[in-house]
Amino acid sequence: MVGGSPTTAQKGHPFGRRPVGGLADVVWDWSKSGTRHAARNRLLRRLIKRLPGGGVDAAYRFGLVERPHYAYGVRRATELAARLGHRGVTVVEFGVAGGNGLLALAEHARYYTAATGVAVRVVGFDGGVGMPAATDPRDLPYLFGPGFYTMDHERLRTRLGAAELIIGDIAETLPHYLHTGASLLRDQPIGFVSLDLDYYSSTTTALDLFRSPAHEHLLPRVTCYLDDLPGTIEQIGEAAAIADFNTAHPDKPIGRVLGLRAFTPFDPPWADQIYVHHRLHHPAYARLEIGATGDQLPLDH
Ligand SMILES: C[S@@+](CC[C@H](N)C(=O)[O-])C[C@H]1O[C@@H](n2cnc3c(N)ncnc32)[C@H](O)[C@@H]1O
Repeated sequence: MVGGSPTTAQKGHPFGRRPVGGLADVVWDWSKSGTRHAARNRLLRRLIKRLPGGGVDAAYRFGLVERPHYAYGVRRATELAARLGHRGVTVVEFGVAGGNGLLALAEHARYYTAATGVAVRVVGFDGGVGMPAATDPRDLPYLFGPGFYTMDHERLRTRLGAAELIIGDIAETLPHYLHTGASLLRDQPIGFVSLDLDYYSSTTTALDLFRSPAHEHLLPRVTCYLDDLPGTIEQIGEAAAIADFNTAHPDKPIGRVLGLRAFTPFDPPWADQIYVHHRLHHPAYARLEIGATGDQLPLDH
């Protein structure tokens, strides 16, 4: 192996790693929109719990929760499921690693199940032994290597509650899940997917979730969070897997939600990573999401 020091150009360190200690650390956190958002969220979360009229509901309304992008996905999934008359919905995390994301997803599932009456099933997929070997140059093999992000199964399993963890290479576990879980998915169709597998090849496999199943196994629009876009280019990694999918399936595109930041409290950077899979020929695609009388725009004066 050739030696040398790690570079810092990727993963949010364009000018090097953070200073260590004192005010310099605070300035460092507030100097970048991603870390500034996280730091501000932590402060506001503590504040909102103490304000009159504050509390958990207010924290969710403002997205002041752990992994707000997951809360947003679960909210969209439960709202749409309720609108279409489903009693349940399924949300999926591809790439679990230590499990912090899956536990946050499970917490949001409990909140929105209580808030909407729509049951939320949480399913996580992971190899369980860290990243597999890269199989394609577009897998970003210069950033990720086999064995990155291992999992402590025993510890995670004790904290999962009702969430399901499916261990194994998704090339095997996903087709098996889609085959054996077909009737469950008919009752609780998929409404939110987080893609966090890092590799082009693994993401391409995960997108079989949108290729193979019947329409009834998915909501007509499935909200997606794409974790691995920042710091790459469109021709490799997660972005390239999405582009290939869209070329092959023009009737089921996956596209970024335009202008979402402007409508989301506190202008969060994660809003740029929210995509939606539209199934244009889904039997429920044209069912109105707004009220039966529709929106109106009468003259102001
Ligand atoms: C960055 S980590 C996920 C982090 C996690 N979502 C979180 O927020 O903490 C990426 C994970 O993808 C998993 N992975 C990548 N390719 C896979 C494959 N083909 N099958 C199963 N898991 C895979 C790895 O095991 C690794 O744990």
